[in-house]
Amino acid sequence: MANHLLQVLGVEKPILSAPMAAAAGPELVAAVYNSGGYGVIPLWTKPAAEVAAGIAESRDLTDQNFAINLNLSFSYKDQLEACIDHGVHAVSLFWGNDPKAIARAKAGGLVVLMRVGCAEEARSAADAVPM
Ligand SMILES: Cc1cc2nc3c(=O)[nH]c(=O)nc-3n(C[C@H](O)[C@H](O)[C@H](O)COP(=O)(O)O)c2cc1C
Repeated sequence: MANHLLQVLGVEKPILSAPMAAAAGPELVAAVYNSGGYGVIPLWTKPAAEVAAGIAESRDLTDQNFAINLNLSFSYKDQLEACIDHGVHAVSLFWGNDPKAIARAKAGGLVVLMRVGCAEEARSAADAVPM
C-alpha cells in the first residue's frame, strides 16, 4: 500500500503535509517536499489568478510533485481550472462531496486526494470516476 502511494505521489517518503490555510505557507510545505515528502498547499482562500501565482511560487521552491488544496464548500471551479491549466500534480479536496469536481480533475489529468468523513463519502468519491 505504501509503495503504491509512493508511486502515485512520485515521492520517496509516505508523508504528506497537512494543509492548513493561513498556517502552512510555501516555506513549510517546501521543507516537506524537499525532504522527500509530499507537500499539500492550501490555496482555496485565493482567487484563481492567485492560485496560478501560488503554483508558480511553489515551483520556484521545488521540482517535486505537490498538491493544491481546494475547499468544496466555497467557490472552487475557477481555482480547479487554474490547477488543470498549470498542470499541477494533484488537488486535495475537502469540506464537501462533489463527484463532478473529482471527475473534472481526473479528466484534466490530476491526481485527486479526497478528504472523506465516512464510508459513504469514500464510496461516492471512488465512484466519481468509472474504472
Ligand atoms: C489551523 C488549521 C487549519 C486547517 N486548514 C485546513 C485546510 O485549509 N485544508 C484542509 O484540507 N485541512 C485543513 N486543516 C486540517 C488539517 O490539514 C489536518 O487534516 C487535521 O488537522 C487533522 O490532522 P491531525 O489528526 O494530525 O490533527 C486544518 C487544521 C488546522 C488545525
